[in-house]
Amino acid sequence: MKFDDLREFIAKAQELGEFEQINGAALDEIGGIYAINGEKQNAKLFLFDEIPGYPKGHRVATNVLSSKKRGRLAANIPLDLEGKDLEAFLSKRLEEKKPVPPEWVTSGPILENVVEGDDVDLYKFPAPLWHELDAGPYIGTSSACFELDPYEGWVNIGSYRSQVYDRNHTGLHTAHGHHGQVIRDHYFEQGLDCPTVLSLGQEPSLLVATAENENWGVSELDMCGFLRGAPVQVVKGKTGIPIPASSEMVLEGYIMHPDHEPMRNEGMFGEGGGHYANSVPAPVVRIDTIYYRNDPIICGEPPYKRVVGRGSYLPGNEVQLMKMIRDAGFHDVVGISNAGPFLVVGIHQMYAGHAKRVADFVMTGLRNRPPKYLVIVDEDVDIHDPKDVFWAITSRTDPQESVHIYRNNWASAVSPRFTPEQEEIPLEHGLTVGCVLIDACKPFAWKEQFNPVNDVSPAYRKRIMDKWGEYLTEEPQRGDGRGAAAVARGDTM
Ligand SMILES: Cc1cc2nc3c(=O)[nH]c(=O)nc-3n(C[C@H](O)[C@H](O)[C@H](O)COP(=O)(O)O)c2cc1C
Repeated sequence: MKFDDLREFIAKAQELGEFEQINGAALDEIGGIYAINGEKQNAKLFLFDEIPGYPKGHRVATNVLSSKKRGRLAANIPLDLEGKDLEAFLSKRLEEKKPVPPEWVTSGPILENVVEGDDVDLYKFPAPLWHELDAGPYIGTSSACFELDPYEGWVNIGSYRSQVYDRNHTGLHTAHGHHGQVIRDHYFEQGLDCPTVLSLGQEPSLLVATAENENWGVSELDMCGFLRGAPVQVVKGKTGIPIPASSEMVLEGYIMHPDHEPMRNEGMFGEGGGHYANSVPAPVVRIDTIYYRNDPIICGEPPYKRVVGRGSYLPGNEVQLMKMIRDAGFHDVVGISNAGPFLVVGIHQMYAGHAKRVADFVMTGLRNRPPKYLVIVDEDVDIHDPKDVFWAITSRTDPQESVHIYRNNWASAVSPRFTPEQEEIPLEHGLTVGCVLIDACKPFAWKEQFNPVNDVSPAYRKRIMDKWGEYLTEEPQRGDGRGAAAVARGDTM
């Protein structure tokens, strides 16, 4: 299903009974309401209006993708698919994936209001204090930030948070290693400011595509066109970077080279890992133009420790990782999953060093940073059952042989685990951390002699079930505690 703008999507949420409008909440209350609502499974979409100090109609939408139905609708995935059917759908779509470039148009709702120069005043729009200890208001927490690479000419999109500093300056936290940081620094290394467009409220498929971590050189804008089955319509602003024609509000300007505009402290800000991220000096965005629709809606989706993340409602990650692993030639990888803090990869071991080779590839960071904890297991372990995975770790490893530390890996800049000494390094580009591989496979050299698994084998299970199944099949109990088999036999209590 394709939506033309955020408003159409909100109307659909309303139709599904997944919508609530809240009038009168203050800027330092919206974050708490959003967070407590987001702790629920399938939280409703909340639309805040009549925010004290702002004109009626200047709205904030939260929890936009916080339900299974809304996640699926935004990602254009049929609502009724589950299990193998869902996997087949996602795999097929991945095989067919191809860029659908945007369509340039000359007008659109985003041009209803355009203010520039001295008239730019971010304080006219509601930017909540999302968490109690945040350094200030954040206007972009669910945004799509567009940057055009100066060398190769393609447009990247990422969602990067933006703190409001004053009437016409914001921050922009582009974590090191994200394409947005690399493109910005392609300008900085030439002594130039980096032009940018920040869409603060948009049709949700754009946000789904934005967070996709596409490969270098692949525009998420084109992939959004594929995802929704129609090109995204865009208009040209002052910088030439595409502006989504149906966005609610867009800021256009320049990420300023630190020699032209001093860096300012960005954060602290409540982060996804469940801790606040420290305040660090970062380049500033100078906003030259604000575009907005009448009665604009700013989207907000800041991380919180207990908020159920959008990832829970957007299937497909494992399918994409499997494709990358297979495309790299690892045909013996049987599956990939998550168990608690572990990324789990199941393999069919065929040679000595096989498990470590697969691990080394996964540790390069597929689609994102390397996993902090990676486990490789044999194919007899159910990677979708954490109990089975933990059993393999407990029983098949010798920690002095099976645990490998990878040092100095690409890591999130907002980790609370950097030491105070590391934090002293005056770098906005962040630091590295270690990662752990647990090789929980049977050692290949004596795999065939490894002690047998102490479980009821499939053949023995079948023999027993065929004969004694009436006692062993789970069945609803009657009020008197007798199962159906006992009732059928006429057993008395
Ligand atoms: C709602 C939301 C907020 C995000 N906030 C940030 C952020 O503040 N900084 C950041 O570097 N990444 C953030 N991310 C993750 C990136 O947007 C995401 O990894 C993206 O794919 C990076 O794209 P890039 O490598 O093309 O730059 C956020 C993602 C989402 C969905």
